[in-house]
Amino acid sequence: MNTLTFRALRELADGRFHSGVDVARALGRSRATLNEALKSAPDLGVDLFSVRGRGYRLAAPIDFLDPAQVALPAGLRLEVCDEVDSTSTRLVERAAAGAPSGTCLAAEWQSAGRGRRGRSWVASLGGSLTFSMLWRFERGAGQLGGLSLAAGSAVAEALADCGVRRAQVKWPNDVVVDFRKLAGILVETAGEIQGPSAAVIGVGVNYRLPERVLDQIDQPVTDLAQCAGDALPSRSVVLGRLLARLASTFAQFDVRGFPAVRETWRALHAYQGRPVRVHPPHHKPFDGEVVDVAADGALVVSTPSGPVHLASAEISLRIR
Ligand code: BTN
Repeated sequence: MNTLTFRALRELADGRFHSGVDVARALGRSRATLNEALKSAPDLGVDLFSVRGRGYRLAAPIDFLDPAQVALPAGLRLEVCDEVDSTSTRLVERAAAGAPSGTCLAAEWQSAGRGRRGRSWVASLGGSLTFSMLWRFERGAGQLGGLSLAAGSAVAEALADCGVRRAQVKWPNDVVVDFRKLAGILVETAGEIQGPSAAVIGVGVNYRLPERVLDQIDQPVTDLAQCAGDALPSRSVVLGRLLARLASTFAQFDVRGFPAVRETWRALHAYQGRPVRVHPPHHKPFDGEVVDVAADGALVVSTPSGPVHLASAEISLRIR
């Protein structure tokens, strides 16, 4: 994406009319160049009106991230960029190159955002929060079971801090409100079996998704604007709360593993006691009832042939 497109959208961020002359002047470019740069706005999920005699206006204001407004907990470092392919892809590379624990990367726009199970992550400029955090653990890569669940409960708690009343988790690591997905988490780990290890935790939160973008998502979703209403803090404030909850949860996890957050997670689990259909990859779906989460983060489902422990993040779960 042309960097001029982001600069022009910043000029228009307040959602009011701005004349093409004024915006072009502010950017030091011609009106024709500005017009060309703004043609890619729809590719970013941004709706833009152009009205003869009045200029340009965004369909909705864009709340760009402001690093100065992100309350960054001690020990973390945050970089905010306009565009990247995937914050997780970049941070995995940086982790391999020795980046310190607590390195965070947030992007206004990901051109190739990745979800779990090989899916892409649908977002829009200003309509989502997309960031990744690198955390280094003393414990081994073989002892990171339940880390993605721990991340899920941290995100659910942070979103509750932001005014979401019924934020819950769905195994393994979605955050849902009334069974509609509000946030997704992608955990990628590396390191020695006995330790130390490193994880890149990528988080995507639906902040205020335009209708057009919601239509591209093939599962029930919701966003913070719907869930938090008037109490909705800015994206920068939400980001700070997410980073704070994640950092404190990972510090506890490094000492005690998933048992450190198991009770919290149980209390937040939307599917506890529910009849579900389990979809394992490459196997036939089967039915059961969610009974518990084990100390290693496996979901315990009772079936007619006895309890089954679901451990793979490749498994998906639907309410029956
Ligand atoms: C899921 O499928 O539910 C996980 C979605 C994770 C998306 C986030 S957005 C920031 C980070 N970068 C990526 O490419 N993916 C994660």
